[in-house]
Amino acid sequence: MSGLTIMDPLEPHAWRHGTVVAGTPWKNPVGTASGTFNLDACGDYYDVSQMGAISTKGVSPVPWEGNPTPRTAESPAGMVNSVGLQNPGVDHYLVDELPRLKALGANVVTNVAGHSDEDYAIVVERLADSPADMLEINVSCPNVSHGGMSVGTDAKALNRLVTRLRGLTDKPMVVKLTPNVTDIVEVAKAAVDGGADALSLINTLVGMRIDITTGKPILAQGTGGVSGPCILPIALSFVWRVRRALPDIPIIGIGGIDSGRTALEFLYAGANAVEVGAAALVDPVAPMRVARELDELLDERPELADLLKKGECWR
Ligand SMILES: Cc1cc2nc3c(=O)[nH]c(=O)nc-3n(C[C@H](O)[C@H](O)[C@H](O)COP(=O)(O)O)c2cc1C
Repeated sequence: MSGLTIMDPLEPHAWRHGTVVAGTPWKNPVGTASGTFNLDACGDYYDVSQMGAISTKGVSPVPWEGNPTPRTAESPAGMVNSVGLQNPGVDHYLVDELPRLKALGANVVTNVAGHSDEDYAIVVERLADSPADMLEINVSCPNVSHGGMSVGTDAKALNRLVTRLRGLTDKPMVVKLTPNVTDIVEVAKAAVDGGADALSLINTLVGMRIDITTGKPILAQGTGGVSGPCILPIALSFVWRVRRALPDIPIIGIGGIDSGRTALEFLYAGANAVEVGAAALVDPVAPMRVARELDELLDERPELADLLKKGECWR
Protein backbone atom coordinates (compact mmCIF):
# COMPACT_ATOMS: atom_id res chain seq x y z
CA MET A 1 0.00 0.00 0.00
CA SER A 2 1.21 3.48 -0.81
CA GLY A 3 0.02 5.08 2.43
CA LEU A 4 -1.93 7.68 0.42
CA THR A 5 -5.47 8.83 1.17
CA ILE A 6 -8.23 6.35 0.30
CA MET A 7 -10.53 8.06 -2.20
CA ASP A 8 -14.17 7.94 -3.27
CA PRO A 9 -13.91 8.05 -7.09
CA LEU A 10 -17.27 9.81 -7.44
CA GLU A 11 -16.51 12.53 -4.90
CA PRO A 12 -15.62 15.88 -6.59
CA HIS A 13 -11.93 16.73 -6.43
CA ALA A 14 -10.27 20.12 -6.95
CA TRP A 15 -7.25 19.24 -9.09
CA ARG A 16 -4.10 21.04 -8.01
CA HIS A 17 -1.67 19.82 -10.68
CA GLY A 18 -2.57 19.99 -14.35
CA THR A 19 -0.43 19.54 -17.43
CA VAL A 20 -0.39 20.78 -21.02
CA VAL A 21 0.17 18.37 -23.92
CA ALA A 22 0.88 19.94 -27.31
CA GLY A 23 -1.01 23.08 -26.30
CA THR A 24 -4.02 21.17 -24.90
CA PRO A 25 -4.63 21.63 -21.16
CA TRP A 26 -5.32 18.50 -19.12
CA LYS A 27 -6.89 18.84 -15.61
CA ASN A 28 -4.33 16.33 -14.35
CA PRO A 29 -1.55 14.35 -16.06
CA VAL A 30 -3.51 11.05 -16.24
CA GLY A 31 -5.56 9.76 -19.17
CA THR A 32 -7.13 6.43 -20.04
CA ALA A 33 -5.17 4.30 -22.55
CA SER A 34 -6.87 3.42 -25.82
CA GLY A 35 -8.82 0.15 -25.92
CA THR A 36 -9.13 -0.12 -22.17
CA PHE A 37 -11.84 2.52 -21.66
CA ASN A 38 -15.50 2.16 -22.57
CA LEU A 39 -17.96 4.86 -21.57
CA ASP A 40 -20.82 2.45 -20.87
CA ALA A 41 -18.58 0.26 -18.70
CA CYS A 42 -16.68 3.02 -16.83
CA GLY A 43 -19.04 6.01 -16.79
CA ASP A 44 -20.88 4.86 -13.63
CA TYR A 45 -17.67 4.32 -11.68
CA TYR A 46 -16.18 7.80 -12.00
CA ASP A 47 -16.81 11.19 -13.60
CA VAL A 48 -14.98 10.86 -16.93
CA SER A 49 -14.76 14.66 -17.31
CA GLN A 50 -12.39 14.60 -14.33
CA MET A 51 -9.74 12.56 -16.12
CA GLY A 52 -6.84 14.42 -17.71
CA ALA A 53 -8.00 12.90 -21.00
CA ILE A 54 -9.99 9.98 -22.36
CA SER A 55 -8.21 8.14 -25.17
CA THR A 56 -10.90 6.19 -26.98
CA LYS A 57 -10.74 2.79 -28.71
CA GLY A 58 -9.04 2.88 -32.13
CA VAL A 59 -11.43 4.17 -34.80
CA SER A 60 -11.25 2.78 -38.37
CA PRO A 61 -12.95 3.99 -41.60
CA VAL A 62 -15.49 1.13 -41.53
CA PRO A 63 -16.58 -1.23 -38.73
CA TRP A 64 -13.99 -3.90 -37.87
CA GLU A 65 -15.06 -7.22 -36.34
CA GLY A 66 -11.74 -7.90 -34.68
CA ASN A 67 -9.93 -11.24 -34.41
CA PRO A 68 -11.35 -14.69 -33.66
CA THR A 69 -11.56 -15.77 -30.00
CA PRO A 70 -9.89 -16.51 -27.62
CA ARG A 71 -8.43 -13.01 -27.76
CA THR A 72 -7.05 -12.57 -24.27
CA ALA A 73 -4.82 -14.59 -21.96
CA GLU A 74 -3.52 -13.88 -18.48
CA SER A 75 0.19 -13.63 -17.95
CA PRO A 76 2.49 -13.03 -14.96
CA ALA A 77 1.90 -9.39 -13.91
CA GLY A 78 0.02 -8.68 -17.13
CA MET A 79 -2.00 -9.99 -20.03
CA VAL A 80 -1.76 -10.76 -23.75
CA ASN A 81 -4.50 -9.59 -26.12
CA SER A 82 -5.30 -9.94 -29.79
CA VAL A 83 -8.64 -8.10 -29.84
CA GLY A 84 -7.74 -6.82 -33.33
CA LEU A 85 -9.09 -3.28 -32.95
CA GLN A 86 -12.75 -4.28 -33.05
CA ASN A 87 -14.78 -1.08 -33.38
CA PRO A 88 -17.98 0.19 -35.03
CA GLY A 89 -16.17 2.60 -37.40
CA VAL A 90 -15.74 6.36 -37.63
CA ASP A 91 -19.32 7.19 -38.73
CA HIS A 92 -20.72 5.53 -35.64
CA TYR A 93 -18.04 7.12 -33.43
CA LEU A 94 -18.97 10.59 -34.69
CA VAL A 95 -22.66 10.25 -33.84
CA ASP A 96 -22.38 8.13 -30.71
CA GLU A 97 -19.28 7.91 -28.50
CA LEU A 98 -17.68 11.27 -29.31
CA PRO A 99 -20.81 13.45 -28.74
CA ARG A 100 -21.61 11.56 -25.55
CA LEU A 101 -18.09 12.08 -24.19
CA LYS A 102 -18.08 15.76 -25.17
CA ALA A 103 -21.54 16.27 -23.59
CA LEU A 104 -20.04 15.02 -20.32
CA GLY A 105 -17.20 17.55 -20.64
CA ALA A 106 -14.39 15.04 -21.29
CA ASN A 107 -11.09 16.02 -22.91
CA VAL A 108 -11.13 13.50 -25.78
CA VAL A 109 -8.12 11.97 -27.51
CA THR A 110 -9.46 10.05 -30.51
CA ASN A 111 -7.30 7.02 -31.31
CA VAL A 112 -7.05 6.36 -35.06
CA ALA A 113 -6.54 2.87 -36.58
CA GLY A 114 -5.93 1.83 -40.18
CA HIS A 115 -4.88 -1.15 -42.28
CA SER A 116 -3.46 1.12 -44.98
CA ASP A 117 -2.24 4.70 -45.26
CA GLU A 118 -5.51 5.46 -47.03
CA ASP A 119 -7.52 4.14 -44.04
CA TYR A 120 -5.74 6.54 -41.67
CA ALA A 121 -6.24 9.44 -44.09
CA ILE A 122 -9.99 8.76 -44.35
CA VAL A 123 -10.42 8.71 -40.56
CA VAL A 124 -8.28 11.79 -39.94
CA GLU A 125 -10.20 13.74 -42.61
CA ARG A 126 -13.54 12.70 -41.08
CA LEU A 127 -12.33 13.83 -37.64
CA ALA A 128 -10.82 17.13 -38.79
CA ASP A 129 -13.96 19.18 -38.01
CA SER A 130 -15.16 17.00 -35.13
CA PRO A 131 -15.12 18.08 -31.47
CA ALA A 132 -12.22 15.67 -30.69
CA ASP A 133 -9.56 17.58 -28.72
CA MET A 134 -6.55 15.58 -29.93
CA LEU A 135 -5.86 12.70 -32.32
CA GLU A 136 -3.67 9.74 -31.38
CA ILE A 137 -2.45 7.80 -34.41
CA ASN A 138 -1.93 4.11 -33.57
CA VAL A 139 0.78 3.02 -35.98
CA SER A 140 0.99 -0.55 -34.58
CA CYS A 141 -1.79 -1.96 -36.82
CA PRO A 142 -0.77 -4.36 -39.64
CA ASN A 143 -0.64 -2.15 -42.77
CA VAL A 144 -1.14 -3.36 -46.35
CA SER A 145 0.61 -0.23 -47.71
CA HIS A 146 3.62 -1.56 -45.82
CA GLY A 147 3.46 -5.24 -46.80
CA GLY A 148 1.32 -6.24 -43.80
CA MET A 149 3.89 -4.98 -41.28
CA SER A 150 2.94 -2.25 -38.85
CA VAL A 151 3.97 1.12 -40.28
CA GLY A 152 5.40 2.09 -36.90
CA THR A 153 8.29 -0.34 -37.34
CA ASP A 154 9.80 1.48 -40.34
CA ALA A 155 11.03 5.05 -39.98
CA LYS A 156 10.59 5.90 -43.69
CA ALA A 157 7.06 4.49 -43.92
CA LEU A 158 6.11 6.20 -40.68
CA ASN A 159 7.46 9.54 -41.84
CA ARG A 160 5.52 9.24 -45.10
CA LEU A 161 2.27 8.45 -43.26
CA VAL A 162 2.61 11.20 -40.63
CA THR A 163 3.53 13.78 -43.31
CA ARG A 164 0.36 12.85 -45.23
CA LEU A 165 -1.86 13.05 -42.13
CA ARG A 166 -0.31 16.38 -41.07
CA GLY A 167 -1.67 17.92 -44.25
CA LEU A 168 -5.21 16.81 -43.35
CA THR A 169 -5.73 18.23 -39.87
CA ASP A 170 -4.87 21.16 -37.62
CA LYS A 171 -5.76 19.17 -34.50
CA PRO A 172 -2.95 18.29 -32.10
CA MET A 173 -1.67 14.99 -33.49
CA VAL A 174 -0.07 12.45 -31.15
CA VAL A 175 1.72 9.52 -32.81
CA LYS A 176 1.54 6.38 -30.66
CA LEU A 177 4.71 4.37 -31.10
CA THR A 178 5.15 0.61 -31.10
CA PRO A 179 7.99 -0.77 -28.96
CA ASN A 180 8.50 -3.67 -31.38
CA VAL A 181 11.47 -1.98 -33.06
CA THR A 182 15.25 -2.09 -32.78
CA ASP A 183 15.69 1.66 -32.40
CA ILE A 184 12.82 3.62 -30.83
CA VAL A 185 14.67 6.93 -31.25
CA GLU A 186 14.85 6.52 -35.03
CA VAL A 187 11.08 6.03 -35.37
CA ALA A 188 10.34 8.77 -32.83
CA LYS A 189 12.41 11.23 -34.89
CA ALA A 190 10.68 10.11 -38.10
CA ALA A 191 7.27 10.86 -36.57
CA VAL A 192 8.35 14.27 -35.28
CA ASP A 193 9.97 15.19 -38.62
CA GLY A 194 6.68 14.25 -40.32
CA GLY A 195 4.80 16.77 -38.15
CA ALA A 196 3.72 14.92 -34.98
CA ASP A 197 2.85 17.39 -32.20
CA ALA A 198 3.44 14.77 -29.50
CA LEU A 199 4.35 11.11 -29.05
CA SER A 200 2.69 8.47 -26.91
CA LEU A 201 4.56 5.33 -25.95
CA ILE A 202 4.43 2.44 -25.61
CA ASN A 203 1.86 0.25 -27.31
CA THR A 204 1.92 -3.47 -26.46
CA LEU A 205 4.92 -5.79 -26.97
CA VAL A 206 4.52 -8.95 -29.06
CA GLY A 207 4.00 -12.01 -26.87
CA MET A 208 2.06 -15.25 -26.44
CA ARG A 209 0.94 -17.99 -24.04
CA ILE A 210 0.74 -21.74 -24.70
CA ASP A 211 -1.99 -24.08 -23.39
CA ILE A 212 0.00 -27.04 -22.01
CA THR A 213 -3.02 -29.36 -22.19
CA THR A 214 -3.23 -28.97 -25.99
CA GLY A 215 0.30 -27.81 -26.79
CA LYS A 216 -1.23 -24.95 -28.79
CA PRO A 217 -1.23 -21.16 -28.40
CA ILE A 218 -4.03 -19.89 -26.13
CA LEU A 219 -4.86 -16.96 -28.45
CA ALA A 220 -6.60 -17.92 -31.69
CA GLN A 221 -4.17 -15.61 -33.53
CA GLY A 222 -1.14 -17.30 -31.93
CA THR A 223 0.55 -14.11 -30.77
CA GLY A 224 -0.83 -10.90 -29.31
CA GLY A 225 0.23 -7.77 -27.43
CA VAL A 226 1.54 -7.84 -23.85
CA SER A 227 0.46 -5.13 -21.41
CA GLY A 228 0.30 -4.57 -17.66
CA PRO A 229 2.85 -4.11 -14.85
CA CYS A 230 5.30 -6.57 -16.48
CA ILE A 231 6.03 -4.01 -19.25
CA LEU A 232 6.56 -1.04 -16.92
CA PRO A 233 10.40 -1.09 -16.82
CA ILE A 234 10.55 -1.49 -20.61
CA ALA A 235 8.10 1.35 -21.21
CA LEU A 236 10.01 3.62 -18.82
CA SER A 237 13.28 3.02 -20.64
CA PHE A 238 11.63 3.82 -23.99
CA VAL A 239 10.24 7.11 -22.67
CA TRP A 240 13.57 8.00 -21.09
CA ARG A 241 15.52 7.30 -24.29
CA VAL A 242 13.12 9.28 -26.49
CA ARG A 243 13.16 12.20 -24.02
CA ARG A 244 16.97 12.34 -24.09
CA ALA A 245 17.00 12.34 -27.90
CA LEU A 246 14.08 14.76 -28.36
CA PRO A 247 14.13 17.24 -25.47
CA ASP A 248 11.18 19.33 -26.64
CA ILE A 249 8.50 16.95 -27.98
CA PRO A 250 5.57 16.37 -25.59
CA ILE A 251 5.45 12.71 -24.50
CA ILE A 252 2.58 10.67 -23.05
CA GLY A 253 4.05 7.70 -21.14
CA ILE A 254 2.14 4.40 -21.20
CA GLY A 255 2.88 0.90 -19.93
CA GLY A 256 2.02 -0.91 -16.73
CA ILE A 257 0.95 2.13 -14.72
CA ASP A 258 -1.27 1.09 -11.81
CA SER A 259 -0.54 3.69 -9.10
CA GLY A 260 0.38 7.32 -8.59
CA ARG A 261 3.92 6.19 -7.84
CA THR A 262 4.39 4.34 -11.12
CA ALA A 263 2.85 7.30 -12.98
CA LEU A 264 5.37 9.54 -11.21
CA GLU A 265 8.25 7.38 -12.48
CA PHE A 266 7.16 8.21 -16.05
CA LEU A 267 7.05 11.93 -15.27
CA TYR A 268 10.59 11.72 -13.92
CA ALA A 269 11.61 9.80 -17.07
CA GLY A 270 10.51 12.88 -19.03
CA ALA A 271 6.82 12.32 -19.84
CA ASN A 272 4.42 15.29 -19.79
CA ALA A 273 1.42 13.02 -19.07
CA VAL A 274 0.56 9.32 -18.79
CA GLU A 275 -2.22 6.93 -19.78
CA VAL A 276 -3.48 3.98 -17.72
CA GLY A 277 -4.41 0.82 -19.66
CA ALA A 278 -4.53 -2.79 -18.44
CA ALA A 279 -4.91 -1.71 -14.78
CA ALA A 280 -8.41 -0.50 -15.72
CA LEU A 281 -9.35 -4.00 -16.87
CA VAL A 282 -8.59 -5.28 -13.34
CA ASP A 283 -10.18 -2.30 -11.55
CA PRO A 284 -12.31 0.11 -13.64
CA VAL A 285 -11.60 2.96 -11.22
CA ALA A 286 -7.80 2.61 -11.60
CA PRO A 287 -7.28 5.66 -13.91
CA MET A 288 -9.09 7.96 -11.47
CA ARG A 289 -7.27 6.45 -8.47
CA VAL A 290 -3.91 6.93 -10.20
CA ALA A 291 -4.82 10.57 -10.96
CA ARG A 292 -5.80 11.27 -7.36
CA GLU A 293 -2.69 9.57 -5.95
CA LEU A 294 -0.50 11.51 -8.37
CA ASP A 295 -2.14 14.81 -7.35
CA GLU A 296 -1.01 14.12 -3.76
CA LEU A 297 2.47 13.06 -4.79
CA LEU A 298 2.89 16.25 -6.85
CA ASP A 299 2.00 18.36 -3.77
CA GLU A 300 5.38 17.28 -2.41
CA ARG A 301 7.17 17.97 -5.74
CA PRO A 302 6.46 21.62 -6.62
CA GLU A 303 9.38 21.84 -9.07
CA LEU A 304 8.01 19.00 -11.23
CA ALA A 305 4.41 20.22 -10.85
CA ASP A 306 5.39 23.72 -12.05
CA LEU A 307 7.15 22.33 -15.12
CA LEU A 308 4.10 20.25 -16.10
CA LYS A 309 1.76 23.21 -15.67
CA LYS A 310 3.90 25.17 -18.17
CA GLY A 311 3.85 22.31 -20.73
CA GLU A 312 7.44 21.45 -19.85
CA CYS A 313 8.95 18.27 -18.44
CA TRP A 314 11.52 16.95 -15.99
CA ARG A 315 15.04 16.77 -17.40
C1 LIG B 1 -7.53 -4.97 -24.60
C2 LIG B 1 -6.63 -3.89 -25.13
C3 LIG B 1 -7.01 -3.17 -26.25
C4 LIG B 1 -6.17 -2.17 -26.77
N1 LIG B 1 -6.59 -1.44 -27.85
C5 LIG B 1 -5.80 -0.41 -28.32
C6 LIG B 1 -6.25 0.43 -29.39
O1 LIG B 1 -7.37 0.30 -29.91
N2 LIG B 1 -5.40 1.40 -29.84
C7 LIG B 1 -4.17 1.62 -29.24
O2 LIG B 1 -3.44 2.52 -29.68
N3 LIG B 1 -3.74 0.86 -28.20
C8 LIG B 1 -4.52 -0.13 -27.73
N4 LIG B 1 -4.10 -0.89 -26.66
C9 LIG B 1 -2.78 -0.60 -26.04
C10 LIG B 1 -2.92 0.26 -24.78
O3 LIG B 1 -3.55 1.49 -25.05
C11 LIG B 1 -1.55 0.50 -24.11
O4 LIG B 1 -0.71 1.20 -25.00
C12 LIG B 1 -0.86 -0.79 -23.70
O5 LIG B 1 -1.80 -1.74 -23.21
C13 LIG B 1 0.22 -0.57 -22.63
O6 LIG B 1 -0.31 0.05 -21.48
P1 LIG B 1 -0.81 -0.77 -20.16
O7 LIG B 1 0.32 -1.67 -19.76
O8 LIG B 1 -1.15 0.28 -19.16
O9 LIG B 1 -2.01 -1.57 -20.61
C14 LIG B 1 -4.92 -1.89 -26.14
C15 LIG B 1 -4.56 -2.63 -25.00
C16 LIG B 1 -5.39 -3.60 -24.48
C17 LIG B 1 -4.97 -4.34 -23.23
